[in-house]
Amino acid sequence: MYLHGTSTINAQGHLEVGGCDVVDLKAQFGTPLYIVDEALVRQRCREYMEAFRASGLKFQVAYASKAFCVMAMCRLAEEEGLSLDVVSEGELYTALQAGFPAERIHFHGNNKTPDEIEMALKAEIGCFVVDNFTELQLLNAIAKEQNRHVNVLLRVTPGVEAHTHEYISTGQTDSKFGFDIGNGTAFEAVQQAHEAEQLHLLGVHSHIGSQIFETEGFQMAVERVAQFAREVKQQLGVVFQVVNLGGGFGIRYVEGDTPLQVSEYVKAITDGVKQHFAGIAEQLPEIWVEPGRSVVGDAGTTLYTIGSVKEIPGVRKYVAVDGGMTDNPRPALYESRYDSVLANRANEETSEVVSIAGKCCESGDMLIWDVSLPRVAFGDLLAVTCTGAYNYAMASNYNRIARPAVVFVKDGQADVVVRRETREDVVNNDVIPARMQKQTVQA
Ligand code: LLP
Repeated sequence: MYLHGTSTINAQGHLEVGGCDVVDLKAQFGTPLYIVDEALVRQRCREYMEAFRASGLKFQVAYASKAFCVMAMCRLAEEEGLSLDVVSEGELYTALQAGFPAERIHFHGNNKTPDEIEMALKAEIGCFVVDNFTELQLLNAIAKEQNRHVNVLLRVTPGVEAHTHEYISTGQTDSKFGFDIGNGTAFEAVQQAHEAEQLHLLGVHSHIGSQIFETEGFQMAVERVAQFAREVKQQLGVVFQVVNLGGGFGIRYVEGDTPLQVSEYVKAITDGVKQHFAGIAEQLPEIWVEPGRSVVGDAGTTLYTIGSVKEIPGVRKYVAVDGGMTDNPRPALYESRYDSVLANRANEETSEVVSIAGKCCESGDMLIWDVSLPRVAFGDLLAVTCTGAYNYAMASNYNRIARPAVVFVKDGQADVVVRRETREDVVNNDVIPARMQKQTVQA
């Protein structure tokens, strides 16, 4: 059993997170429940900020809100001095509703709609990360209508493939994202952006993948982007003031995952920038990064109540919990692996290997295959660890299952940051057309 952050086992043998006994959390908030260890999230934010300060470079750490975008999280990121990466109207709205400073918001996405662009321009966000030529023209045109000038980065694909699951690689040439450096598209984009009246080109952005455990990919990306910056300077006289190296820093989900310290990733990037950007312009560029998973991932725990247990002699024991792919689609989507703790009897020796099933009507709804646990029974509590990133964010209402609540826990205090959905919430947007209404017979 591996416990993250402030998680411990207390004298009653219960899992405790942020000083809160999860048995009490179940009594107070029910299950399934997303529990976020606030101190650990803040610690991760600080690790990024401190590592960059130590580099002496100018920087911004933009939390990639897609990993877990709720208003309280935006507040936390603001309090810790981070910027914010958003990719949709919904994420932008969440940030603005939370009062996040617009000038520290960066807007991503490969298909921003005219409405989204208008909204972000009106809000006067800090920067658009322009993904393609359609957007470049659209943004320039809408900014012109609104009589505004707008900061842009161009998303480029440096042709670096990070060692990661293929569904979440984005640095290679064959990608729906960005302008390719290798085939000259990125150079053309720089020319167009430089000439576009309403656009102020700050620099470029590159994101090479996700859940990355080594620094080589980032170092290669820095080198390629620096080569590109040199060409652009020489041929167009354009200097990149900002280079954004994206996110993708890995975390430990299960034994065998070997992430580096935040400071090691940051040092690899900042050293690479100092080495490869030296001499291109008078000043080194400002460096931005966009960590998502590594800010919130290991701070999340999902608490479930165990229900049915099905033993197939000689084959397998299925232990079903009261959630599943609706609150954590990652095992079904990416074959992601998770670890768990029998949260109400966490001191007991493990005695059997079981598989944890969700409650959705689908065989693929499995959370963990083959995990060692003490002998479990109906009503026990199971905590699945490391669920802070891309779990609530990707939750669905499949089978019309209501989304769980999210609580922040810290120093023995638990605060709801997202209320549990109710049955009523689930039908809230349903409409029965008038012609299908049941006739009420008048007396
Ligand atoms: N910046 C950009 C432009 C990105 O596309 C992403 C993630 C990030 C930053 C943050 O990456 P992180 O530090 O979280 O790895 N749903 C998948 C992950 C998709 C990541 C998409 N982009 C999952 O559950 O693993």
